Amino acid sequence: MRPGQRLGDIMRSGQETVAIVGIGRVGLPLALFLADRGCVVHGVDRDAEYVQTLLETRRMPFGEEGAQPVLEAVLGKRFLPGSDLSVIARCEVVVVTIGTPIDEHMNPVLGPVEQIFRDMAPHLRAGHTILLRSTVSPGTTGYLARVLEQSGAPLPGRGIHLAFCPERIAQGHSLEELAEIPQIVGGVDTASTTAAAAFFARFGMAILETDAMSAELAKLFCNMYRYIDFAMANEFMMLATEHGRNIYEIVRLINDGYKRGGVKQPGLTGGPCLYKDGFFLIERTPYPELISNAWKINESVPAWLVARLEEERAVEGRSVGLFGLAFKRNSDDTRNSLSFKFLKILRRKGASVVAHDPFVQPDTLEEALESEILVFATNHDAYADWGLEGLRQRARSGALVCDPWNLFGTERIVFTLGDQAGPARDSDG
Ligand SMILES: NC(=O)c1ccc[n+]([C@@H]2O[C@H](COP(=O)([O-])OP(=O)(O)OC[C@H]3O[C@@H](n4cnc5c(N)ncnc54)[C@H](O)[C@@H]3O)[C@@H](O)[C@H]2O)c1
Repeated sequence: MRPGQRLGDIMRSGQETVAIVGIGRVGLPLALFLADRGCVVHGVDRDAEYVQTLLETRRMPFGEEGAQPVLEAVLGKRFLPGSDLSVIARCEVVVVTIGTPIDEHMNPVLGPVEQIFRDMAPHLRAGHTILLRSTVSPGTTGYLARVLEQSGAPLPGRGIHLAFCPERIAQGHSLEELAEIPQIVGGVDTASTTAAAAFFARFGMAILETDAMSAELAKLFCNMYRYIDFAMANEFMMLATEHGRNIYEIVRLINDGYKRGGVKQPGLTGGPCLYKDGFFLIERTPYPELISNAWKINESVPAWLVARLEEERAVEGRSVGLFGLAFKRNSDDTRNSLSFKFLKILRRKGASVVAHDPFVQPDTLEEALESEILVFATNHDAYADWGLEGLRQRARSGALVCDPWNLFGTERIVFTLGDQAGPARDSDG
């Protein structure tokens, strides 16, 4: 930005320069989206090796639909990755998308976000708009405004703007969904909300304006609503099984033609966001009951499934093929995937487990298929596409299969390969 030039002038001239701090699963697709629409985007990531690999290979470091050709087109031209934070001084808009995990005590790790604001402060001046996109606890954006103040940056309301603008895309579909999903924009003051809204509106997004705390809560509630939905489906699976009934049929009975239906299918529910985001709602101790119970239910699914398997056959001393390591369908992201909990429980029970995943560990397919027990932990299309007949052809006859996703249409959570039985009732595993 030239001295004296305002954000509004830049936006009218169509040349804005944006910094994305943290170019991981959220930051990199956003950088590509913005560069593809004409912005000059500086990607700042502290992982210099990751940046170097990106620059040298010109390959997406993870699966993201449609991203590779955009990366090839903009890298080194309108998308400039690096590790030097001082580049933000030359940008009008700074988007912070660094990771916000929880620690071993299930407490949010927000220190690095605070530190990055302290580190950014010397490079900030009037005219800067800072957009926090990392998921944070309620009140964090307001707190970060005070951190900036302590660090000597110009204050929000006196030249710089600060807003929380959550990311709500489905990972892997960012480039498509960024343009479609309404962007929630919550400034620490009205001027910040207006500046952030003006930035996103330029890319054709629908904007929902609010305050910072409401935006933070909306993001967390959005994820927890889905998490509880999945937990309910998993509890229904457990209850239906206790009653010797077929959960897949019951979900159909509820949803088919019924306008107040919408019950989800059961399955393993983990991942870097849903797993942890409930723990960001830490205003009260103990944690909110419904959310912590949803966590307990979802996290108990692997152990519950192993118990169902063991009703049919002890796993001790058996070979098990575990299919799917990613936390969700058609993804290569293994963060907080329940597959690993599944794997651990099986190994602790004395099984020898070979894991396969088409996106993570593709070379073990034959070996995994030779196992006595086959566990489908992730609902990748690559598995569903086999169909039951394809599974029969690939696996050994008489293998015990655990298929909570009903990938093979048997409507049995556990079944023996070779059984000709149709959808289960009383005998359902
Ligand atoms: N992954 C998702 O689908 C998703 C969706 C919505 C929100 N979020 C939230 O977005 C945030 C980022 O998630 P992610 O999945 O992209 O994480 P990620 O780990 O894939 O990416 C974070 C990146 O930030 C970099 N980084 C960390 N500290 C840094 C620092 N001090 N300076 C510069 N770079 C730094 C890391 O090297 C990494 O490349 C989290 O708060 C997450 O909860 C994620």
